[in-house]
Order: sequence, then C-alpha cells, then structure tokens
Amino acid sequence: MRRPVMAGNWKMYKTIPEALEFVQSFKPLVIASTHCEIVIAPAFTAIKSVSYRLEGSHIEVAAQDVAAETGPGAFTGEVSASMIKDAGARWAIIGHSERRQYYGETDESVNAKIRAVIGAGLSPIVCVGEPLAERDAGHAEQVVGSQLAGGLRNLTVFEASRIIIAYEPVWAIGTGRTATPEIAQQMHAFIRSRIRAMFGDALAEEIRILYGGSVKPENIATLMQQPDVDGALVGGASLEADSFARIVNYRENS
Ligand code: PGA
Repeated sequence: MRRPVMAGNWKMYKTIPEALEFVQSFKPLVIASTHCEIVIAPAFTAIKSVSYRLEGSHIEVAAQDVAAETGPGAFTGEVSASMIKDAGARWAIIGHSERRQYYGETDESVNAKIRAVIGAGLSPIVCVGEPLAERDAGHAEQVVGSQLAGGLRNLTVFEASRIIIAYEPVWAIGTGRTATPEIAQQMHAFIRSRIRAMFGDALAEEIRILYGGSVKPENIATLMQQPDVDGALVGGASLEADSFARIVNYRENS
C-alpha cells in the first residue's frame, strides 16, 4: 500500500511572515489528516522558520532546488543538501520544469543532485514531464522515458528507493489545463513500467508517483482515483491554506 504524498511548491512566493501566517492557518486544518504525508516547499529563505514552526507536526519541509555539489566549497549562490537539512528540510524538489526551462537543468545535473540529496540523508522529489509540442507530436513517453533514464542513471536500488517521482506535464503547469485523469494514469503507468525495468518489481510497486500541473481542490479526487497516482505536487493552489488543506483532505470532499 503506497502512502499518498501531498506536496506544495510555493515557487518564488511568500516572505517569512507570509509563510508563517500560512502555517498558522494550515496546521489546524490538517491536524487529523494522517492518511498522507504532507510536504511544503517554501523559498530557501523561509525554510528554517517554517521548519521550526512545524516541529512536532506531521508536516515536513522541502527545498525547491539544491546544489549538485556536496561541498562545502566555493560555489557562489548555491545551497548544499546538508545546508538545507541543517535548516530543517527533509526533502528537495529536483528537476522542476521551470529549472529545466529557465536555468539550464539537465538530466545530468538532476542525477548529480539526486546523489547529493540522498548522500545528505534527505529524500528527493524528482520531476519529469513533456512540453506541449512533444505531446502533440506523440513523443510524450519518449521524453519522459529519457528524463528517467538520464536522471536516475546508475543509481542503486537502495538509492532509488528514497525517491519520489512527480509527473508534471509542462503544458499543465500554471495554465489551468490539468491533464485528464486518463492521461495522468497512462503516463504514471508508463513511469512505473520504466522503474520496473530499471530497478525491479519490488521498487516499482513501492515508488510513489505524484501528479503535478493545475491540481485544485476540485480535481484532486478524480486524479487520486487513478491506480498509479500516489499524490500531487501542487503549485498555485498550495499558496492558500484553505485550498491546500482541501487538496490534502480530498477524501472528505469527494
Ligand atoms: P501548478 O504548479 O499547480 O501551479 O500548475 C505545479 C508545479 O509547478 O509544481
């Protein structure tokens, strides 16, 4: 039985006071929500304050990116996995399509970051997903397959067992255009089959695959009904306590 994960990706939103205000409203709304793991990814600057405020709760904190270098070292502007851990995070998002698109993230850097994160004892949330042109051309599985092959290259089964995958079709991120549950299911099943081929049956059954891209309180329940959808990575709808709580508590609203 795979335990669902609901992760909020705040992107470049929320100052420290705004982040703490969210936490204060959000905590009581999900206090009884033990059916899933809950993760919040604030900007680097708010990780420590948010983690501190969440201590003793079942809500955990992620960074939105991480350095590929383990350091310490002369890498101006980078933040290492052990620094993120030191600030209180337990997770790191790696390879988000915005990082790939705007900041030159590649499958090679994703692979290095996964190793750095696991080496520091944190868990990676690894994002994959195809742009619209590739889907329209019928190449969606090819793109995601090669992101998985490159990103997870030469990992051991133990290392891979620490990973969560997030399938985020680029055309669905921030566009209001969610993948249909059928499209999500089809790609999640494909991802699981690639994991089976790379790491074997046991891990393929265990690994959690989240869907991301315009997830809202209104569409989460039907997405979660799909057998290979194990949770969500939520952008815009995670910025408000009430809407993220409704996503976490999708079973009550369905
Ligand atoms: P969205 O973003 O929910 O605003 O589409 C998802 C993401 O980028 O992780």
